[in-house]
This record gives sequence, structure tokens and C-alpha cells, in this order.
Amino acid sequence: MKTNFKSFTESTQEDWQIIVGEQKKFMVGLPDRILQHMQLLENDYGGFPVDRLQHCLQTAELAAEAGEDDEYVVCALLHDIGDTLGSFNHADVAAAILQPFVSEANHWMIKHHAIFQGYNFFHHLGMDRNMRDKFKSSEYYEHTERFVAKYDNIAFDNSRPKLSLDVFAPLVRKVMAAPRQSLYKAALDGGN
Ligand SMILES: [Fe+2]
Ligand SMILES: [Fe+2]
Repeated sequence: MKTNFKSFTESTQEDWQIIVGEQKKFMVGLPDRILQHMQLLENDYGGFPVDRLQHCLQTAELAAEAGEDDEYVVCALLHDIGDTLGSFNHADVAAAILQPFVSEANHWMIKHHAIFQGYNFFHHLGMDRNMRDKFKSSEYYEHTERFVAKYDNIAFDNSRPKLSLDVFAPLVRKVMAAPRQSLYKAALDGGN
């Protein structure tokens, strides 16, 4: 269904009932759009030993094998989804996508993972590997340091069997089934 106005100022409550109905259908498709976007990382090596999709899949698999919960595993899976469109700030993009669905701790972890990962290589680029130290007082410092050390850092192993995104698709659908927080949550939760 479509509305017919030339500006939001002339839109009516009835128009917005139609739009909300359409939005609800659109939002149900978010996990599939995320999975399709993840697939774009396949065969994108960027000089790394594994392509960006396998790196994400290995990160998720390591987290799952270690017994992390579903939300954490999805964060691990999507932590580098921003590489395509946020090539200069990829962690911010991933964090923004995950933010409606995850805890503050996991959001912070994904948003800052690039700086924490820098501890392992920034010195090779003439950068400060201790850049993460400026977050020493954060309550999520150790949470993020742990994510990088246990999963992100070691997920470049091209001797591991190739993984498929299909394995994690149900988890993405589950964690992204409904937002915990969103500007539009109240409007979307109302009615049916
Ligand atoms: Fe990253
Ligand atoms: Fe990564």
C-alpha cells in the first residue's frame, strides 16, 4: 500500500497507519538484508589470509565454541559488516546496526573493537598500539579486550575448514527478531 502526499506536513494519521503497516513488514526482512550484505564480504580478501566473510564466520564460530550466548555470537558474526560501506569507520557501522538488539556492553565492544584490535598491529603502521588505553576507565574495557584476544584476533586462520553463513542465519533471525530499543519502538509495538 502507498500513501499520496507531497510533504510530511500534509500527511495524516491514516497515512501513518499505512506507513507503519508497511514498515513492520520491511523490518521483518532486516535479518535477510543483513545476511545478504554479509555475503558481499565473500572473496573480499583485502590482503588478509582469509576473506572478510570467513574472518567474520571464524570469529562467530570461536565465540560459539567457547559457549558465548546467541547475542554475543551474532555480534561476533557482524563485527566487520561495516567494512563495505564504512571503510574508514567500520566498527561504528557494525555497532549502529547492532545497537537496537544488543546490550550496552556488547554495543560498546563492537563500536570500539577496531581500536582494541589495533593493539595487535598498529605499531606496524607507525601508530600507537596502546590507543585503547584511553578507554582504561570504561566498564567495558575488559569485555572488549577479551573479545579481541579470544576471537577477533585469531580468526584469520586459512587452515580452518570453510564455513557457511547458513549455519548462523537462524541466530541472526532470532537476535534481530525485535528491537530492545529504537526511536520508533513505541509506534511499531502499538496495534498489530
Ligand atoms: Fe574490525
Ligand atoms: Fe575483525
